[in-house]
Parts: sequence; C-alpha cells; structure tokens
Amino acid sequence: MALSKEQVQDKAQALAESEPKEIIKFALQEIDNIAISFSGAEDVVLIELGSKVARKLGKPLQVFTLDTGRLHPETYQFIDKVRTHYGIEIEILSPDRDKLEAFVKEKGLFSFYETDHLECCGIRKIEPLKRKLAGIDAWITGQRKDQSPSTRDAVPVVEMDPTFSSADNPLVKFNPLANWSSKQVWDYIRMFDVPYNELHDQGYVSIGCEPCTRPVGPGQHEREGRWWWEEATAKECGLHQGNVIASDTK
Ligand code: ADX
Ligand code: SF4
Repeated sequence: MALSKEQVQDKAQALAESEPKEIIKFALQEIDNIAISFSGAEDVVLIELGSKVARKLGKPLQVFTLDTGRLHPETYQFIDKVRTHYGIEIEILSPDRDKLEAFVKEKGLFSFYETDHLECCGIRKIEPLKRKLAGIDAWITGQRKDQSPSTRDAVPVVEMDPTFSSADNPLVKFNPLANWSSKQVWDYIRMFDVPYNELHDQGYVSIGCEPCTRPVGPGQHEREGRWWWEEATAKECGLHQGNVIASDTK
C-alpha cells in the first residue's frame, strides 16, 4: 500500500506550493513502486529532477513511455537519447497487437479525423497504460495547469488517480509540474542544459502523436496544436480523463 486517501489529501495541501523537486523527493521517498510517465516532450524535466533525487536517495528510477506506433521520428530519437544521456532504462509499452490490427483493419489508419481520437487513443495509449498502472502503486506525470485551461486548471500536485484508482487497486498520481508555467519549464531546461526534443525548435510546443500534433503560431495556445479538429474541452485522450470529468462538474 502506498499512501491512504487521507494522506494524499493532506499532502496535496502541504505540498501545494512546493517546488517540483520537493514533490518528486517526497514521492520517491514514500513510495518504492512508482514510475515516471514520459511522453518524449518537455516532461524530460521530470527525468532530470527524478534522476537527481533518486541518486541522492540511492533509489532506482522507473520510467515508461507509451509507444503508440505513431510518434514522430524525432520523438523516438529523443526517447533513446534520454535513455543513454541519463543511463536509465525506459520501458517502452506497445499496444495489444490483436486489438490494434482489428481496429486498423476495420477503420483504417486515420479514423480519428472522421470521428474523434478516443478509440485510437484507447487502444494505442490507454490499454497499455492500464496494464502498466496495474503493477505499480503510483505514477508521476508532467501535467501542468497552463497546458490546457479548460481541462487542467485544477490539477493538484498529488491526488488519488481520478481515472484509474479503485478500492482494490489504489493508485496515487503525482503531478509535480502542475504549478509551473511553460516558461519555468523551459528556463529550467536551458539553465541545466537538459536535452530536449528537436521538434520544439520547429514550432511544436505540445507534442503527441504525429498525425494529431501540429506546430502552433504566435499567439496560439499550445493545446491548439493537438487534435485541432476537436473541441478544447474534449482534448484529453483518457490518460488524464479525470480532468474532463472534474471540469464537467464545475
Ligand atoms: S495527453 O494526454 O494530452 O497526450 P500530454 O501530452 O499533455 O498528455 O502530456 C501530459 C503528461 O501525460 C506527460 O507529461 C506524461 O506524463 C503523460 N503522457 C502523455 N503522453 C504519454 C506517452 N506517450 N507516454 C507516456 N506518458 C505520456
Ligand atoms: Fe491515435 Fe492520435 Fe491518439 Fe495517437 S494521439 S493514439 S494517433 S488518436
């Protein structure tokens, strides 16, 4: 057992104003079976901070990534660069082959443009994520409030996972970057010479799968570069679906 619901609520308050490093330190200190969920974008900051903290605590750092099969070549190259740069293992999770083949056979490779991204994300991201989460007590994500004002403006630094936690399988979710702005993340990356995805130099701000991500222009919000054919309030792929449910009930 990692942390009780009450402990999580207390910590969410106690750590609300803390720096990401303090939040990661608490997470790694308290919970052994915990992993960073790395998308291959500016959330590399979690690995930079996590590896510093893990080294100090003498603990291993677990990192996984959801390989949808549709990431940009630059993102695959970057994930591997991060692996060697930090000397860590990155667990690459793939979709279930039978489900994916049946889906693509029936609907083709671009059905998300006709309907929405949920079915494809469900198979390529959510199912492998659920498999991973079933074997750990807590995960650490790079979600920030400023990434999506309509769905993430209330993201706490730690919570019981609103989507994947259950009575039988309690799951704690840390969002250490919740209160950092994009500028703070990028200041940190520059200050500590953290490696980053080349796509960021080509106008991409928020990075997901190649067919569902595009660069944004001046004055556009970063989320406008993701699933641009859909409503802003629907732009959660299911990894963080609890945010949509929470914002629906406001
Ligand atoms: S998404 O749900 O809209 O795709 P976003 O790209 O904003 O998420 O990333 C927020 C956080 O979700 C990332 O910092 C990471 O923790 C997690 N995440 C998103 N995509 C992936 C992925 N492909 N693999 C692992 N983690 C991911
Ligand atoms: Fe499929 Fe696009 Fe979701 Fe990637 S982001 S899993 S390509 S719908």
